[in-house]
Amino acid sequence: MNHATLIEQDRRQLHPLHHPSRIKNAAMVEKGDGVWLYTTDGKKILDAMASLWNVNIGYGNRELPQVAYEQMLDIAYNSGFAGMSNPASARLADKLAGFFRPNMNFTYFTAGGSEASDSSFKTAIFYWHQLGKSSKTKIISRLNGYHGMTLAATSATGMSKFHTMFGGVLDGFVHVPDPNPYRYSGERREGETVAQAAARALEETILREGADTVAAFIAEPVQGAGGLVLPDAGYFDLVADICKKHEVLLIVDEVICGFGRTGEWFGSDVYGIQPDIMQFAKGVTSGYMPLGGIQVTDAIRDVILDAPEEQSWMHGYTYSGHAAACAVGIANIDIIERDGLLENSRRMGARLLTGLQSLVAEFPNIDNARGVGLMAGIDVVANKNSREGDAETAAKISDAALNMGLRARPLGAAIAFAPPLCISAEEVDTVINTMGDAITQASA
Ligand SMILES: Cc1ncc(COP(=O)(O)O)c(C=O)c1O
Repeated sequence: MNHATLIEQDRRQLHPLHHPSRIKNAAMVEKGDGVWLYTTDGKKILDAMASLWNVNIGYGNRELPQVAYEQMLDIAYNSGFAGMSNPASARLADKLAGFFRPNMNFTYFTAGGSEASDSSFKTAIFYWHQLGKSSKTKIISRLNGYHGMTLAATSATGMSKFHTMFGGVLDGFVHVPDPNPYRYSGERREGETVAQAAARALEETILREGADTVAAFIAEPVQGAGGLVLPDAGYFDLVADICKKHEVLLIVDEVICGFGRTGEWFGSDVYGIQPDIMQFAKGVTSGYMPLGGIQVTDAIRDVILDAPEEQSWMHGYTYSGHAAACAVGIANIDIIERDGLLENSRRMGARLLTGLQSLVAEFPNIDNARGVGLMAGIDVVANKNSREGDAETAAKISDAALNMGLRARPLGAAIAFAPPLCISAEEVDTVINTMGDAITQASA
């Protein structure tokens, strides 16, 4: 089938999310290798977003298909809903037991991050119900946080463009300002750091809603889709204290940050976060199979396992513990370990950040280079003093970069970078040089 036919089919039959005014034709990718994508019309693109922040080991790996193939010959999938399991899911759960935190040994698998968000929320509400506090059902999340696309995950997501056309936010979801050190949207008192102001806003919200009505607070260690927001040191310590004080469970969303993206296994390792529930997806399989999940503390596990039968944790997806996906997950984690991808994420991340800082020094409309591991961003601004964002130019720069063979992602006025963790120094330099050319062209 030729390129033009595929593009026409894609446009007519596949993609309601592409607004035709912005995306005329999708890049029709037929092959990948490392950080590179190849399209049916002969283009070669350096994917500095690892698709959706998730192809951590890079494209074109030959081992994971083999693992999936062999697992599928044995048992590709069987129900894990109740009364059945399979060795691959048991082995991955065993590998993950204590892997994130010593007191978190219990995993429930999903097919992705949105299902993980719903699983986290329901588990938090279930936990309080079993402890006799059934009024604790609300979920607090952050403005510009992103937690997925089911109705509950959308409601926790703190970006109005995802709510407005779908009836708004569900009852029981409440948003607080995110601790954006560059552009804080909340109220800040004199002498207060952004971290302190954002933590205070959380506590005030808990008190206003009534601590006896709040089940959990959810946060990404580094906000991804909401514009690459890295909190200042100390924010998560303040948050943890507030959550503990008011009996609010802390859910950390590691869907992007997990499995090496930040240069550590988890974003929580960067900030010393000890949550009650941790959710993951994306990098656990590097996108070679759809998989996600939640991990809960042993205390929460005991509440789940000790519940009387008529009060069971009634929550189960058809594809929970999918055997082929779990087998791929085990092999993928082994590859991250074997190939030293955390170390590469740190080293190449430092190089990427230095390069982005040089763009800030060179261009009057580029500011706020920031990053941790291979998760980095810049802001396009009308003026560095006012910090007023320029989303239109950010989109133009990203389009120009794509025409030059580099895929970065515009997120409002920010441009994000999250390449595969196997990226080389030369490829990082290509990212920076191409961005320089794209900024020059689009800002002219
Ligand atoms: C932090 C975070 N949580 C949850 C999700 C939802 O994951 P999925 O798209 O796999 O449902 C995403 C997706 O980008 C995410 O970035």
